[in-house]
Amino acid sequence: MARIIAGVGSSHVPAIGAALDNGKTEEPYWKRVFSGFVKSQEWMRETKPDVAIIVYNDHASAFSVDLIPTFALGCAAEFPPADEGWGPRPVPVVKGNPALASHIAQSVILDEFDLTICNKMEVDHGMTVPMNLLFGKVDKNGHWPCPVIPLAVNVVMYPPPTGHRCYMLGRAIKKAVESYPDDLRVVIFGTGGLSHQISGPRAGLINSKWDKNFLDNLSKDPQKLVKIPHIDYMREAGAEGIEMVMWLIMRGALDDKVDEVYRFYTVPASNTAVGHIILENRARGGKAAGKRKPAAGKLKRAAASAKVHRVRSR
Ligand code: DHB
Ligand code: FE
Repeated sequence: MARIIAGVGSSHVPAIGAALDNGKTEEPYWKRVFSGFVKSQEWMRETKPDVAIIVYNDHASAFSVDLIPTFALGCAAEFPPADEGWGPRPVPVVKGNPALASHIAQSVILDEFDLTICNKMEVDHGMTVPMNLLFGKVDKNGHWPCPVIPLAVNVVMYPPPTGHRCYMLGRAIKKAVESYPDDLRVVIFGTGGLSHQISGPRAGLINSKWDKNFLDNLSKDPQKLVKIPHIDYMREAGAEGIEMVMWLIMRGALDDKVDEVYRFYTVPASNTAVGHIILENRARGGKAAGKRKPAAGKLKRAAASAKVHRVRSR
């Protein structure tokens, strides 16, 4: 049986990708950001998932105002990096897992979640930046360490799905994975956020208090988050803060009780508060989950904290 062993939350700021691609990671501004992912990359190398499901949002790269799927699952064998205006990022083509992806599509659709199935799709910074942050820098001719199933969520055009709908989709994905016969160890990513607004009079808004509360509840009491209406994300976390609903899909796919093994938060990267968390399911025993000890306790729970509090909402 396949099993989800852990969830990862990570921001996806495109300038992080540009810093990597243009050799700026040693500059103090970017070093502060990348320093928070060194332990995570160790965790990922040790965890060695067989597959990653990455919940992310497309930023008008694969889709546009002509076509706005609420939830789109990538069932293709590969996903090339999209040209976002200055050529595709110099990262490898992402290999998929069509067999598991099709199984998830069938299970979830029969569970009454109407996914769009994508058999051809390019992927943008929303997916490739968190992949770099967790898997490290991999150049164009290299290989990502595991296949990835992309799940694109519309958080760009109104109306995005509710937090509750996202959490319940996560639940359905958990059920789908657990009904897959092969022994696969799966990690699920929730990406985007945390608080940010990139245009309009409130551009630059960051709300560290809100972000910390979100991370605390994501770890301990996600039911408190599923009821938050869109308008609260907009008011408190900025127009693009709505990306945070994608983290609830990741959380819904995990067990009720999880171990938070790592957290990182820094402000800002570009316009955004960078948040990152690793949550492990406690039931990692059995063949599918591997025989290794849980990583909890090995990593520092909070590597860095918000040194700058720029709470400018309302
Ligand atoms: C920024 C953040 C995003 O999530 C995004 O998709 C685009 C830009 C930013 O901080 O500049
Ligand atoms: Fe974004």
